[in-house]
Amino acid sequence: MNKAWVSPSVMCMSEWRGAGDQLDQLIESGVELIHADVMDGEFVPNMMFGTDSIRNLRKACPIPLDLHMMIERPDDKLPWFDIQPGEYVSIHYETAKHLQRTLSYIRDRGAHPMVALNPSTPLFMLEDVLDEIDGVLVMAVNPGFAGQKLIPQMINKIARLRKMLDETGRQAMRIEVDGNVSFENAVKMRAAGADIFVCGTSSVFGKEASIPENVARVRECIAEGERLALHEVLR
Ligand code: DX5
Ligand code: ZN
Repeated sequence: MNKAWVSPSVMCMSEWRGAGDQLDQLIESGVELIHADVMDGEFVPNMMFGTDSIRNLRKACPIPLDLHMMIERPDDKLPWFDIQPGEYVSIHYETAKHLQRTLSYIRDRGAHPMVALNPSTPLFMLEDVLDEIDGVLVMAVNPGFAGQKLIPQMINKIARLRKMLDETGRQAMRIEVDGNVSFENAVKMRAAGADIFVCGTSSVFGKEASIPENVARVRECIAEGERLALHEVLR
C-alpha cells in the first residue's frame, strides 16, 4: 500500500481574507500536495483558477501542485499553465481526443501525468494508457463543485481499480480520490486502496477545528482505514 498523501483542495479555502495564513497552515501541517482545480466553464458548469492564479499559487507555495484539469481541449490549453517538474497533472479521460499525446506532453515537462475519471467512466477505458501515467484520479462526486455528497459505489470503483493495478504489477501506481473526502469517507477510501486524498470542505477546511487539527484527524482516519478489510467498509 503506497504511503498516503493529503492534497488539500484550495478551491475550498474559506475566503480570500486569510488565504495566505491558511496556506501557511497547510504548509506547516506537512501536506504532500496542493490540489488546484482548474475549471473552464465548458467541461464543468463552473469556472475556477485561471493561468495567473496557478502561477501565483506556485510562487506562494513550496509544495508541489496537484493540478486537476477540468477543461475541454486540454492539448490547446495545457501550454498556458507552464507545468513544472514534479507537479501532478490530471487530465479527464472524457476531454482528451489524443490522450496518449497529452500525457506525453506532461511527462516531457518532468511532471507526473494522471488520468481523471468521472463517476460514470468505466475503468477499462484506462487499459491502453496505464503505461503512460503515474496515477488515476477517481472522482467520487460529479466534477465542478465542492460540498457534494459521495456517490457510494465509488468506494467499490476504487477497490476494483486497486485490484486491476496490482494484478498488472502496478502496485506503485497511485489512486487519488477527489470529492467528499470526509473523515468518515477517508476510512472507506483508504480501505478500498486510495492513497492520495483530495481534502476539501468536508475535512481539512471544515469549520469545527483548525486546519492543522483537521489534517491530523484525516491522517488518523486514513490510518484506521489501513486496518480494515474492504468488506468491512462496503455496504
Ligand atoms: C470538485 C473538485 C474537488 C472539490 C472537493 O470538482 O474536483 O477538488 O474541491 O471539494 P469537497 O471536498 O468539498 O468535495
Ligand atoms: Zn479536484
